[in-house]
Amino acid sequence: MPELTPSQQVALQRSSTLEQRIRQDPETFRVLTGDRPTGPLHIGHYLGTLANRVRLQDLGVEVIVLIADYQVMTDRQAGRQLPATVRGIVADYLAAGIDPDRSAIFTHSAVPSLNELVLPFLSLVSDAELHRNPTVKAETEATGKPPTGLMLSYPVHQAADILFCQANLVPVGLDQLPHLETTRLIARRFNQRYAAESPLFPEPDALLTASPMLAGLDGKKMSKTSGNGIALQATEDHTAALIRRAPTDSERRITYDPVGRPAVANLLDLLAAATGGNPRHLADGIANAGAGQLKALLTEAVNEFLRPLRQRRADIVEDTDHLDAVLGAGNARARELADNTLTKVHDLLGMTYANRRNPVSGSGLTSTLARRVAGP
Ligand code: TRP
Repeated sequence: MPELTPSQQVALQRSSTLEQRIRQDPETFRVLTGDRPTGPLHIGHYLGTLANRVRLQDLGVEVIVLIADYQVMTDRQAGRQLPATVRGIVADYLAAGIDPDRSAIFTHSAVPSLNELVLPFLSLVSDAELHRNPTVKAETEATGKPPTGLMLSYPVHQAADILFCQANLVPVGLDQLPHLETTRLIARRFNQRYAAESPLFPEPDALLTASPMLAGLDGKKMSKTSGNGIALQATEDHTAALIRRAPTDSERRITYDPVGRPAVANLLDLLAAATGGNPRHLADGIANAGAGQLKALLTEAVNEFLRPLRQRRADIVEDTDHLDAVLGAGNARARELADNTLTKVHDLLGMTYANRRNPVSGSGLTSTLARRVAGP
């Protein structure tokens, strides 16, 4: 693991304090977490975040899960596949153990009042602050193009994702900490400027996940788009083929050396995660049997580990009515929370004019305009 910065260390300590409080008073926490629907979720998602969401849900914390569809607009390819990808992710969540009766699953696009929060929030951050965000910088460098307005404002959108429901806990990996700082900054500034007497927004805490980030099969960051992860939905044969193609090195004897032999160490980390073992002991067990044996064990372990989840997924994935109903109920819940927050924001901003919630019925208008508003 790379050396942690002082602020990461603080966040890590804070997380262990929070874990104790969650166990004592789970109902005082509301978790908001989400994924960008750029492709099917993979085993890294399961081990890194999905299992943790289910754990929090089962401890009695309210968990709200966002499928961040407005965050994939930069990717035209993804747009075309969005319906299948989003339904597939809902199936991944349900198969992983997210219980739709307790935990809402929703999308940005179904909750206009969440997106509207971006407007007042944009007024609270400077252009320079937006350019300083490390993810925005990395994306800009990777694409070689200046960021679009949407890319630049994405940490602000993420603040709306979290604050619309007054979530106070956000389970994240280290890479997401700067975004959470932006959310905290926006909450703080909004409260100072508009709600000094009684703060509207909590400053949410990051809950860092204990399990370290697993790298992809090629040793790079595991991601939905680079095809180096093992999708939860992959067949057992496909899983075997992916692992067969994973790079190793020319040394026969298997040892665990994350610095000197990152590719091999990475496969051992995955094997350890899937079997609950220790990567060093697993390496000693394989030793001179070599990479072929490592890959055979890994294939067996991953397929066995994912088998029950894949079975549950297969049972529901064809039932799009059910998946849409789950999403519909989650969207309704999110809209209720977001409408409520936006009304409070409007009140604090002085945007309190007549009949704002329901402009037509009961307005007493009989004019042409009222008929037009009401429609045929
Ligand atoms: N940006 C997150 C990712 O790339 C997804 C996301 C969107 C998110 N909004 C969020 C995560 C709010 C936590 C909270 O994975």
